This record gives sequence, C-alpha cells and structure tokens, in this order.
Amino acid sequence: MRIGEVPEPELRETDVMVQIHATSVNPLDAKIRDGEFKLILPYRLPLILGNDAAGIVIRVGSKVSRFKPGDEVYARPSKDRIGTFAEFITMDEADVAMKPKNLTMEEAASIPLVALTAWQVLVERANLKSGQKVLIHAGSGGVGMIAIQLAKHLGATVATTTSTANVDLVRNLGADVVIDYKKEDFEKVLHGYDVVLNSLGTDTLEKSLRVLKPGGKLISISGPPDPAFAKENSSGWLLQQAMRLLSFRIRRKAKRRQVSYSFLFMAPSGEQLRQIASLIETGVIRPIVDRVFPFEQTNEALAYVETGRAKGKVVITVK
Ligand SMILES: NC(=O)c1ccc[n+]([C@@H]2O[C@H](COP(=O)([O-])OP(=O)(O)OC[C@H]3O[C@@H](n4cnc5c(N)ncnc54)[C@H](OP(=O)(O)O)[C@@H]3O)[C@@H](O)[C@H]2O)c1
Repeated sequence: MRIGEVPEPELRETDVMVQIHATSVNPLDAKIRDGEFKLILPYRLPLILGNDAAGIVIRVGSKVSRFKPGDEVYARPSKDRIGTFAEFITMDEADVAMKPKNLTMEEAASIPLVALTAWQVLVERANLKSGQKVLIHAGSGGVGMIAIQLAKHLGATVATTTSTANVDLVRNLGADVVIDYKKEDFEKVLHGYDVVLNSLGTDTLEKSLRVLKPGGKLISISGPPDPAFAKENSSGWLLQQAMRLLSFRIRRKAKRRQVSYSFLFMAPSGEQLRQIASLIETGVIRPIVDRVFPFEQTNEALAYVETGRAKGKVVITVK
C-alpha cells in the first residue's frame, strides 16, 4: 500500500461526500490486500483500502434527505465502495449515521464495522435474549469487546476467551466468565450455551460445538462460508458448491449435535449505526482504542493489527 493522489470520488444522487477525519483498521483490510477475498469481493486494482470512517459531510447529492454539509457522521461504506484510507469518500446516505456525540473522531472511527458485526450476529442472527448464555471468542479483539458489551446489554450471561494479559480488560467490559486460553481449555469449562460467536480458526470452531446445548447456534465470522451465504452473496454455481464443500464438515458435525452452524459476513447499515450511537451516548457501549497512527503510517497500523495482539481497535488519524 502506498500514498498517492487520485481524483475526488463521484457523488451520486443519494450520496454524501465525507471529509474523513479518522478511520480504523480491520483484519479485513490486510486480507483484501493479500487477495484472500478475491472470490467473494472481486476488487480491481488500484484500490483504496479501508472500511470505517468518521468525518464531516462536505457535500450531498440532490436526493439526500437525512444529512447536510457540516454534519459529523460515521459509517462502514458498502463493500463495493470501500476506501476510507483517504481524505474523502462518497457513500450512500443509507449506510451513514450521525456520529455519537460523546466520542472523538478517532473513537467514532473505531466503531462501525465491528459494532455492526456484533449487532448482526447477536441481535439479528442469534436473536439473543435475556437469560441466555453466549460465548464470545477473542473478547479483547475489535469485534469481541463490542460484542461483550452488547450481549450484557441484552441481558445474557457472557463467557469469553482471552490471554492472561487481557483478563482484566474483558472483565471490565462485563464478561461474567473469562477463560484464559493460556491456562484453560474452554470446552472443558463451558456447557449448555445458547450461542457462540466464533472469530477464530477451525480448531476453536469445532470445539465450540461442544459447549452448545441442543438447539444452540454456532455463528462464525471467520469462516467457513456456508451455502446460505453463497446464495445471499449471489455467488455463481461453482462458488456455491465450493462453499457447500468448505462448510460440509462443520455443518455435518453441528447437525449431529442438534445445533446449527452459520457463517455471517456483516453488511453496512446506517439504521443500525443510529441504534448503536444511542447505546454509546447512554454509556451502554464504550470504544476501546489500543493505538492511534498518523495517516502516513497506515502500513504500520495494518502490520500492528496483523500481529493479532491488538487490544480493541487500531485507529488512523487522517485530518
Ligand atoms: N465476517 C465478518 O463480517 C467479520 C467482521 C469482522 C471481523 N471478522 C473477522 O473476525 C476476526 C476477528 O476480527 P477482530 O477485528 O476482532 O480482530 P482483532 O481485533 O485483530 O483481534 C485481536 C484479538 O484477538 C485475540 N485473540 C487472538 N487469538 C486468540 C485466541 N486463540 N483466543 C482468544 N483470543 C484470541 C487477541 O487477544 P490475545 O492477545 O489475548 O490473544 C487480540 O486481542 C478476523 O478474522 C476478522 O477478519 C469478520
């Protein structure tokens, strides 16, 4: 990745143009850069990376009704229009929301992609209810730290996995049961769970089946993709078969244990970001920012996230 000059992005009728003040790094950025998402997200190069934005609206399209120049906003742009590692971006107004008033631009930029992911897993897909038990893997990561707080707000009992250094951090976020993976094996400790949010590898995925009770839901954001996702993604026949095959083993194991397996790839939503903003403004959810990098050090910011050791989010100041 290198810095360069490009023309201003095109503004469509329902678009807002945002001057980006801050953005944040997601493991997705490095995966796209490395070509890992070629089949699902067929981007053309040169490409501006970046999936989170906080900034100020400077122009609006002729059919925009919700925003005006000067509004402070935050967003995760649609997957076809990413590119927040930049000074300006245009996005459909449906993907944008007013930034939480109590957050700085840096804090606001740390929220969209991970909070939408946590929301779509726990609220939409799992329909998590008060009194249920949920296991959230990697509680100190970008997704995990928001998911813990959201699950507690929904009234669930929350277990999470993390390493020794981050035990206090996840407890402070509200986790009821903390499994230090350096000392304990979560599958030996946790039983009768309703939902597992998996963001780790195959080994963790398969072990997670065994902590669920019959009827429980294993929802993975780190793969493997399943046939339902292939359909949703309008993948061609060949890709659908590939995803069927990739997830065959875990779906078969899940069925045997009378639990369900599904893969989720988050989607942008201004409406959900509005609801998340009000949870932030009322103190239900707070961001955790590990490090802030200047724009010129975007490559270093990505490298830091790639170590897999970030505590919360890594942010880049653009303006
Ligand atoms: N499908 C989707 O829509 C979607 C959306 C968002 C993210 N994702 C994917 O989900 C994964 C996580 O994303 P993220 O943004 O949360 O990543 P992240 O912030 O980079 O995660 C870093 C954290 O993971 C923890 N961790 C690493 N190995 C662990 C293990 N074995 N057990 C428990 N914790 C562990 C680390 O804690 P320790 O230092 O204590 O180990 C660290 O705090 C990535 O693969 C990402 O691509 C998918």
